[in-house]
Amino acid sequence: MAMSSSATQSAPAPLRFPADFTWGAATAAYQIEGAWNVDGKGESIWDRFTHTPGKVKNDDNGDVACDSYHRFNEDIALLKQLNLKSYRFSISWPRIQPTGAGTANSRGLDYYKRLIDGLLAAGIRPMVTLFHWDLPQALEDTGGWPNRDVASRFRDYAHIVTQALGDRVERWTIFNEPKTFTGVGYWQGRHAPGRTEPLPFLRATHTVNLAQGMAFAAMKANNAKLQLGTAFDVAPMFPATQSYADIAAAERWHKFQNLWFVDTALHGRYPEGVLPPDQQAALLDFRPGDEKLMRAPLDFIGLNYYAPWIVRDAPQGNGVPGLNTDSDWARMLGDHPKTDIGWDIYPQGFYDILVRMARETGNRPIEITENGASFNTDPDAQGKTNDLERIDYLRGHLTAMARAMREGVPIRAFHYWSLMDNFEWAEGYSQRFGIVHVDFANGQKRTIKESGHWYARVAATNVVGD
Ligand code: FCB
Repeated sequence: MAMSSSATQSAPAPLRFPADFTWGAATAAYQIEGAWNVDGKGESIWDRFTHTPGKVKNDDNGDVACDSYHRFNEDIALLKQLNLKSYRFSISWPRIQPTGAGTANSRGLDYYKRLIDGLLAAGIRPMVTLFHWDLPQALEDTGGWPNRDVASRFRDYAHIVTQALGDRVERWTIFNEPKTFTGVGYWQGRHAPGRTEPLPFLRATHTVNLAQGMAFAAMKANNAKLQLGTAFDVAPMFPATQSYADIAAAERWHKFQNLWFVDTALHGRYPEGVLPPDQQAALLDFRPGDEKLMRAPLDFIGLNYYAPWIVRDAPQGNGVPGLNTDSDWARMLGDHPKTDIGWDIYPQGFYDILVRMARETGNRPIEITENGASFNTDPDAQGKTNDLERIDYLRGHLTAMARAMREGVPIRAFHYWSLMDNFEWAEGYSQRFGIVHVDFANGQKRTIKESGHWYARVAATNVVGD
């Protein structure tokens, strides 16, 4: 390692990143595009969910959001001003296939071609997520992700998209946070489609694993040069007490939350010690040959990190057979600093999980596909948003990431979540994660926050400074 021990001790000297490190920002279709029923787009489960009163804070919805469908050129200009070289965004499946099946809607594809060509012309790498939660409602009407057939629909969609865009986009994330859209959508019910059904939820996880493997194979068959990964949301799991039972529960939860969609891809099997072995196949509807279908030797591992979990043993069960855990996400025991959404600020957890995931994935290249914070700082009278907490948050997390890199964790890129304030799922517009402020009430005016200027300097110099 190049770092001498005296340099390690003399922190806080400036932190320098490798010359080829890539700095970027991330968004997702439903959270920014708006234009929910324009140019032939079909209804998604998030359209249906947000149009149902009582589901989302203030009954907010993404009908208009940041109107990026019409303002994407402004977004590209902002990325450029911020010196960012990678833009992670997602494609809305129902723009491409309004009912989740059949031929492509060319107007949907054209929108993404324009966006991608604009990025390439600006020297920005497009990193495209195929699925960031907006399932076509027509597929939910056939049972949604718990219905195994949806895996084949997803493979067809992946095929269409990479045939159309694979000439100009090399780097793809197949899914965004598979554990969250299955768990929060089908088990906890706080996200679309709002179901609270533990057993169908388990089936959903298996369909998603099949879909990941099948899409991977279809995409590589279209173009072997494509670089494919998934954005897994991961976190260290802390036992609530040092009892043997809580420690074991935290380890079960690690396997279920951090490895359930990775081990399947890399090894063709589910982690042991989560579901009861004699029930697992029936619970998942695991059929002979599935171990091959779900294999996906990912080219890189995308990781999203926000905050750690606290986990307790729950012998009374939690609906998922054998799991027997009770967990609290993003709220550490005791008094701890939090972002405005209430999530713990804990950079050490970023370091911990980076080191662990590198080990779990055999040191494959890693891209940080999301990390960021909600702080609802208002602009001052001059229009300046002095969001110093966000700068502190970023500095802390980049420092933790740099430490993991010095210890050999192969991280190649970092994407801040999010480029701009946007529709934050169940929280609606009440939580602002952007390094760009969006004035939703006044013509969608976008203004770079102080954190954005700070991050732009990091991106330009590869150095984390003051
Ligand atoms: C992640 C999501 C992303 C955003 C951030 C705050 O879980 O992937 O869309 O909402 O949280």
